[in-house]
Amino acid sequence: PEMRSLLNLDEIEEVATKQISKKCWAYYYSAGDDLISKRLNNEVYKQILLRPRVFVDCTKCDLTTSLVGHNVGMPLFVAPAAMARLAHPDGELGIAQGISQFGAMQIISNNASMTPEQIVEGSLPGQIFGWQLYVQNERKKSEDMLVRINNMPDKYKFICLTLDAPVPGKREHDEKSQDLGAKLPVTSAVKSGESRPGGGGVGQQLFWGTAADLTWKNTLPWLAKHTSLPIVLKGIQTHEDAYLAAQYAPQVKAIILSNHGGRALDTAPPAIHTLLEIRKYCPEVLSLVEVWVDGGIKRGTDVVKALCLGAKAVGVGRAALFGLGAGGTEGVNRTFEILEAEMKTCMRLLGVEKVSDLRPKHINSRAVERD
Ligand code: FNR
Repeated sequence: PEMRSLLNLDEIEEVATKQISKKCWAYYYSAGDDLISKRLNNEVYKQILLRPRVFVDCTKCDLTTSLVGHNVGMPLFVAPAAMARLAHPDGELGIAQGISQFGAMQIISNNASMTPEQIVEGSLPGQIFGWQLYVQNERKKSEDMLVRINNMPDKYKFICLTLDAPVPGKREHDEKSQDLGAKLPVTSAVKSGESRPGGGGVGQQLFWGTAADLTWKNTLPWLAKHTSLPIVLKGIQTHEDAYLAAQYAPQVKAIILSNHGGRALDTAPPAIHTLLEIRKYCPEVLSLVEVWVDGGIKRGTDVVKALCLGAKAVGVGRAALFGLGAGGTEGVNRTFEILEAEMKTCMRLLGVEKVSDLRPKHINSRAVERD
């Protein structure tokens, strides 16, 4: 279909679902156990109400902001997600090109289906990226990847270390759909011709070789030896861990509150709950590191609500993948066009001109406050 005829992210997901393979759908859609965290990730936003102020000049609306010291066109970013080419041959480069006109940032997965060099080659000057690392049991493999990323300082501005999935979650949709086995696309982690034990779905296959022994003490010093890029820690789910992470500033410049789109531990909290905990128990974290969130974003209002609570940026995982599945580069472009328009409408009707002026007073989050 004409991408323009699609009006929201649910319609885009519906089109993508019809077009992508069953295997790809099962991998993208799946989440841990009963998909409770996945559902809550989105539902939490429905329970937060906006508090629009009226009689405010709203002719202008400015979405620009800065992330880890770099200017970006909007506070929305693409979260790292493996295997974009399962959905469409445009792959991760298609995502990069689809979002380029918005000046949005993209984090490239350790398990991307294109090399980090290929992805940035076709990107716009000034477009910025992060690279997500799953530390491998064979540390040398990760060290070699870091050398490659360090060599593209114009493009890759930070390393995103994902912490919430030292072992993969139990994803039954993915497990049920037919085993890809040796047919896995080549990724940064999977070399061509490398065979892996069968079973368990795409997720389990990709996690093969990933280190489960990482700790605060043994990993950050190792990483500092192999890159001078800032670190973004992804998968923080409690105020205690947010506080710990902030002690590693300025090496750690941002944390991403995330439950991996509900794909790791089911019934783990949506990012909004963790953000509310941080506001209550250790608000100083918000000034020591940038706090980003992801999970469950379907509407521009969802993004704005997270920003009101102090998030500096908001990520989308499945939305970008389903955009790609619906229409390749153009589908991703349409996804971001919709989210941008919805964010702007939301801010204008709230009576807020700039992202940095969004505050907790613009929402009522009492229905989701737990303690
Ligand atoms: C992911 N996610 C993820 N995260 C990560 O750090 N490395 C990865 O390789 C992947 N791979 C991946 C694949 C797929 C298919 C999905 C859906 C997700 C998690 C991702 O970065 C992000 O946290 C979630 O996708 C956010 O939730 P939504 O936006 O999908 O609801």
